[in-house]
Amino acid sequence: MTVTIVGSQLGDEGKGALVDRWGGDADVVVRYQGGDNAGHTVVEGGTEYKLSLVPSGAVRDKVGILGNGCVVNPRTLFDELDTLREQGLDPDVRVARRAHVILPYHRVLDGIEEEAKADDDAGQEVGTTGRGIGPTYEDKAGRRGVRVADLLDAAALREKLEYAVPHHRAIVEDVYGIDLEATDRAEAFDVDALHEEFVAIGERLVEEGMTVNCSDFLYRRSKAGDRIMFEGAQGTHIDIDHGNYPFVTSSNPTAGASAVGSGLGVTTVGKGEVVGIVKAYLSRVGSGPLPTELDNTDEEEELADFIREKGGEFGTVTGRPRRIGWLDVPMLRHSARVNGFTGLAVNHVDVLAGLEELKVCHAYELDGEERDTVPTTTERWNRCEPVYKEFETWEEVDWSAVAAEGYEALPEATKTYLDYLAEELDAPVYAVGVGPDREETIELANPFEKSG
Ligand code: GDP
Ligand code: IMO
Ligand code: MG
Repeated sequence: MTVTIVGSQLGDEGKGALVDRWGGDADVVVRYQGGDNAGHTVVEGGTEYKLSLVPSGAVRDKVGILGNGCVVNPRTLFDELDTLREQGLDPDVRVARRAHVILPYHRVLDGIEEEAKADDDAGQEVGTTGRGIGPTYEDKAGRRGVRVADLLDAAALREKLEYAVPHHRAIVEDVYGIDLEATDRAEAFDVDALHEEFVAIGERLVEEGMTVNCSDFLYRRSKAGDRIMFEGAQGTHIDIDHGNYPFVTSSNPTAGASAVGSGLGVTTVGKGEVVGIVKAYLSRVGSGPLPTELDNTDEEEELADFIREKGGEFGTVTGRPRRIGWLDVPMLRHSARVNGFTGLAVNHVDVLAGLEELKVCHAYELDGEERDTVPTTTERWNRCEPVYKEFETWEEVDWSAVAAEGYEALPEATKTYLDYLAEELDAPVYAVGVGPDREETIELANPFEKSG
């Protein structure tokens, strides 16, 4: 029995909160893509936990798996585990031996490529998190990556580093014209130092029983009747295939990747539930179009500031202010189709309370024609004009009290907004977020009770 949690927009929809909410009913929580570019927040009884690599099920004491589709930076993983232990948790995290490792040079390469794109003024800078995600997936596809299993075999690791490091050094020096030795980045390209550090990391992973054959493990757990939750990172519109290429991350956050990125069979995952997490407005951190962005007039910018402050819209990983826009339904229709949502969780409806106006982009106009979903290219998407639908606003209320009472206690205007979304996306609303805390989610259905 599986439940897959997927971001339906551009990341930061509140996936962590829902993984935590329903994770209590799961036995295993699995990340299937991405790495420490993710920043998932769980708030339980006022205590906030920030999770980047550790699956959010850790707050519920569930086994957490980083699947083969993830890219893992062991340095940040160990730091995060230490922080969570200081917060009183005891995370049980296992890393797939087939997962790829983010090495120090991947981070350096991420920075260099972004700087080069920024310098050439063509607007190609993605605004990455700088975590080395793209270069690590490039190495995976280029068959020069280092996998977790390689850290457990000193000879194999040396062989891989001796091929990959000079390859990357040549690119930095000959293509980008950077004299590495004259910078503080040279250490990241020192085979001996890397070998020593990462062999020791491999030993620590073994000592702590942290590596796993992910597919085999999940197959057995699934056969034994365990409930498996997949925790998507990022969101559909920054998916490398289905998102706003090239302003995307380098993995597939969409639901299909949960099978590929974990090795649990697609027929098993296909019998499960796929819940699309929707933020009641839009936020984007990083570059790329945003047709409903609130940045055209002083009033719009003021409104964006209000929402940003109230919703705490500053990147969990980088602290960057997030760009803000009205809800964009053509984007959501694309997400519902790509992921096959069986249900929705709509978060942040509390943040929209007390506005003077409330708009939703119902369709786009492009070249004189109305369309109900996003075009395939960034250039065409950039030219889309939103066709807005106005909704009645709702007042500020005591959201904790509403959460305690349940769905019926929501303002009528909020329910109209939610009904509209469910109808447009052809999927029922399973949960409504009215605040960050676990107790501030109104649950209409539990996907584990529906999953086959
Ligand atoms: P994720 O990356 O999808 O897990 O989302 P983030 O944790 O990066 O960003 C979501 C932020 O909104 C976090 O600070 C959450 O604690 C918070 N949050 C989640 N759901 C709600 C909600 O319904 N209302 C409000 N006000 N905050 C929420
Ligand atoms: P969660 O899981 C929002 C964005 C970056 C950048 C692009 C590529 O918390 O929702 P990358 O470092 O992945 O190569 O950056 O993707 N991005 C995210 N935006 N939420 C995230 O994760 C993101 N992870 C990456 O800002 O635009
Ligand atoms: Mg986030």
